[in-house]
Amino acid sequence: MILIVGGAGYIGSQMNKRLNIQGYETIVFDNLSYGHREFVKWGIFERGDLGNIEDIRRVFKKYPIEAVMHFAAFTYVGESVENPQKYYLNNLRNTLNLLEVMLENDVKQFVFSSTCATYGNPQEIPITEDHPQNPINPYGRGKLMVEQILSDYSAAYNFRYVSLRYFNASGADPDSEIGELHQPETHLIPLILDAAIGKRENIQIFGTDYDTPDGTCVRDYIHVLDLAEAHIKALKYLENGGKSEMFNLGNGNGFSVREVIETAQRITSKEIKVVEVDRRPGDPPVLVGSSKKAREVLDWEPEYNDLSSIIETAWNWHKKL
Ligand code: UFG
Repeated sequence: MILIVGGAGYIGSQMNKRLNIQGYETIVFDNLSYGHREFVKWGIFERGDLGNIEDIRRVFKKYPIEAVMHFAAFTYVGESVENPQKYYLNNLRNTLNLLEVMLENDVKQFVFSSTCATYGNPQEIPITEDHPQNPINPYGRGKLMVEQILSDYSAAYNFRYVSLRYFNASGADPDSEIGELHQPETHLIPLILDAAIGKRENIQIFGTDYDTPDGTCVRDYIHVLDLAEAHIKALKYLENGGKSEMFNLGNGNGFSVREVIETAQRITSKEIKVVEVDRRPGDPPVLVGSSKKAREVLDWEPEYNDLSSIIETAWNWHKKL
């Protein structure tokens, strides 16, 4: 059985659905602090907290777990600067608890949700896996620390992992059963869609004076379903004896904030009011990843390789909210 830690969240719940469709048996472990119980429509649900190591031990005792996927993390970059302890306790210490129980139970296959935020300000675009990792905020630093710990565990304990560095996760389940529902919401696409349905008055563009073609930040948007497929490929890679590795997961194409807004306007056929404001601190102008390595080694190919299809799935889900 596969343990999906944080499987009630945005990406973890897609993972749970995909694994079940492909015939895997899953257990979702989540404390529901940010996750949604109603997103866990497949597999077994076990409520528990990684901060309480006995909760983890209980689940490992109860089920024959073969591999673990770990999605449970706080992801607000700005909050990580204001309250780093919250991030280090959850994203770092609690991950150590999980790894401790895995080793106690001799479970040695791990797929870890890492992030392009471990690279910091890019020195070259597209970013490859060997780009220097100099994160510029506690969120990115915590994720990098886990990657380093995993590397040490892998060398010492015959433990094998795949670390997946996501670019901008976006889009929703094409069947609209589950999707993006953060509280609070800070991500660009759901905020634009909120403006489209009139839940917000407008969408603010954070900075129009960047050194980019239209002055707004450029990001690499990757569909959650493509992320989930990459995890399944990573799991199979480990099952087949693959050595510990790390991979970028992105589309390899950059879209500016203005392009995202224009595409959303076209798809929703709604008038979306745009307000230009100052830059948000800590935003690099361009983040675009090369996922050549994942394509070659994992034989992964993103299906949603254009912005329109990503926003379309997000819109179909969002308008039902
Ligand atoms: N943006 C706006 N207006 C908004 C919200 C966002 O203009 O109301 C802009 C941001 O400035 C950024 C782009 O839209 O340029 C995308 O912003 P998101 O907040 O959606 O995503 P980020 O690129 O900031 O964050 C993502 C992940 C984080 C990860 C980070 C790495 O969501 O988990 O990339 O830098 F840490």
